[in-house]
Amino acid sequence: MSPPEIRPGQSVELLKALHLLTRDGKLNQDSRRKLKQVYHLYHFIEPLLQDAYAASANAADATAPVLVDHGAGKSYLGFILYDLFLKTRPRGQVIGVESRAELVHSSRQLAARLDFPRMQFFAHSVEEAIASPAIPPRVDIVTALHACDTATDDAIRFALARDAQSIVLVPCCQAEVASALRARKAEALATTPLAELWRHPLHTREFASHLTNVLRCLLLQAHGYQLTVTELVGWVAKSREGRGGGRSAASGGGEGGSAVRGGGGGRV
Ligand SMILES: C[S@@+](CC[C@H](N)C(=O)[O-])C[C@H]1O[C@@H](n2cnc3c(N)ncnc32)[C@H](O)[C@@H]1O
Repeated sequence: MSPPEIRPGQSVELLKALHLLTRDGKLNQDSRRKLKQVYHLYHFIEPLLQDAYAASANAADATAPVLVDHGAGKSYLGFILYDLFLKTRPRGQVIGVESRAELVHSSRQLAARLDFPRMQFFAHSVEEAIASPAIPPRVDIVTALHACDTATDDAIRFALARDAQSIVLVPCCQAEVASALRARKAEALATTPLAELWRHPLHTREFASHLTNVLRCLLLQAHGYQLTVTELVGWVAKSREGRGGGRSAASGGGEGGSAVRGGGGGRV
């Protein structure tokens, strides 16, 4: 018998392949924790998918709605979303973008084995994906969970270019602003007491991460998104005004602190 955490109809083979169940179909402490985290995230994204699904009811394109997951890694998220939400519905597509070709290869194999035909994977950088003709011109939901460094910013650019209705981001390590602060730290300390905010190396990193996330929020707000920033890990931008919907959502559930206050490294 399946453990009670496994939902009716859920693919046990998938959960084993993602190491969310042990090989003999059981949950150990580690897999139970991981599964809880995955469900936690699923609950944030499911309402966005519901909205996108309803909004695309009359779309001529049978693949709508389209969700693109950047920095997909082993595509945990995409597989779980497909299995729990899209598998039993006639429409909807999940596209994983991942720069490591071997991960893309194994995700393609797993999708074929599970017979998940509306999952696609591309060995692209997020930046390459922006111009990729292989990805539909209109994308409904963009996710990027722990996509390294500026990949999160590229995911935002992608989402803006594809006019995404919803964006779910859990930022990762961020180095760019920190290196700019470091480069001019001595000068800043000599000219403004505000530089005390980033005098110490740890504070340089954290403050830079905070600034990065604030800038990301401002950029998205300027493009008409309503934001929800969560304390735990993630921050979510969704429901650009004028395109209907309007519910905000949040992601989170990690150990790394707030993406806005701390920046990165949080696990979902
Ligand atoms: C920390 S893992 C997160 C994987 C997955 N999203 C998760 O949360 O389990 C980050 C992944 O992003 C990929 N990645 C990093 N930078 C990228 C980029 N610029 N374009 C595409 N993938 C990238 C890495 O190869 C890695 O698989």
